[in-house]
Amino acid sequence: MVRAACGGLNFADFMTTQGGYPGTPAPPLIAGREFAGVEETSQRRVMGYIQWGAFAEKVAAYSNLLWPVPKHWSDEQAAAFPVNYFTAYLGYWQAGMTQPPAVGRTHRALIHAVAGGVGTAAVKIGRILGVEMYGTSSSDEKLARVKELGLQNGINYKRQDYEEVVKNLTRGEGVDAVFEMLGGEHTAKSLRCLRDFGIRRLLNHYFSDFISGRKFNRVEVKPLLCADVESVEEVSGCFRSNGSGNAS
Ligand SMILES: NC(=O)c1ccc[n+]([C@@H]2O[C@H](COP(=O)([O-])OP(=O)(O)OC[C@H]3O[C@@H](n4cnc5c(N)ncnc54)[C@H](OP(=O)(O)O)[C@@H]3O)[C@@H](O)[C@H]2O)c1
Repeated sequence: MVRAACGGLNFADFMTTQGGYPGTPAPPLIAGREFAGVEETSQRRVMGYIQWGAFAEKVAAYSNLLWPVPKHWSDEQAAAFPVNYFTAYLGYWQAGMTQPPAVGRTHRALIHAVAGGVGTAAVKIGRILGVEMYGTSSSDEKLARVKELGLQNGINYKRQDYEEVVKNLTRGEGVDAVFEMLGGEHTAKSLRCLRDFGIRRLLNHYFSDFISGRKFNRVEVKPLLCADVESVEEVSGCFRSNGSGNAS
């Protein structure tokens, strides 16, 4: 049991308030996924994750989903950590990018929604890992802010086709991995941004609430185990396979 001091507000919490978010009951409910506070039994400062119910005075959480808060972090910083940073780190880890690249190579990643929560976490971690990053956003102002965090190549998708930009800036080679949560046409488009040779991975392990159009609370992109996929068709076939247009 944790006496909560702060909660981190995420995309999923907004979706939860509209109902139908995977893994959460319909409203009314107490929302909130990530939080920071003091564990009642040990009095240690912790940050944690639950599916819903974190925006409360007391939070009951599994002990394996509680982590100690580094001493110099505020409660606010700790409450904003688990969802975005663990997601971004997991993506890099799954792509093999937490290990140094082969001699003469640099890890490259395309990060969609780069100015969002997961995106900015991916940029901060990518900077530490030495990743060459390409990030998409709808606004130059947002891109300027993310560049301050370490993004080298910002792409305003309202004005530029990110597939073209990535192709040009990487001299036709492409990137090693894509943080892709947009779904729809962007899945195949993102796959086309991947390198033709070498490791091919699409980081789409996390749920996506995005879709071109308005029905984004109906879309759920489940883990796509497409490490080393051989073709765009192989993956886009996963999306068609349940006949509804939703990922399966
Ligand atoms: N572990 C997990 O499973 C996990 C964890 C965290 C997040 N997620 C998922 O990852 C995605 C990003 O989360 P986040 O917290 O980074 O989001 P966020 O901070 O709310 O950022 C969302 C940004 O995405 C961009 N965007 C592009 N297309 C969009 C669309 N159709 N609808 C809404 N926004 C769109 C917008 O930026 P621009 O205007 O710049 O394009 C928007 O500001 C969400 O789908 C979220 O549910 C999954």
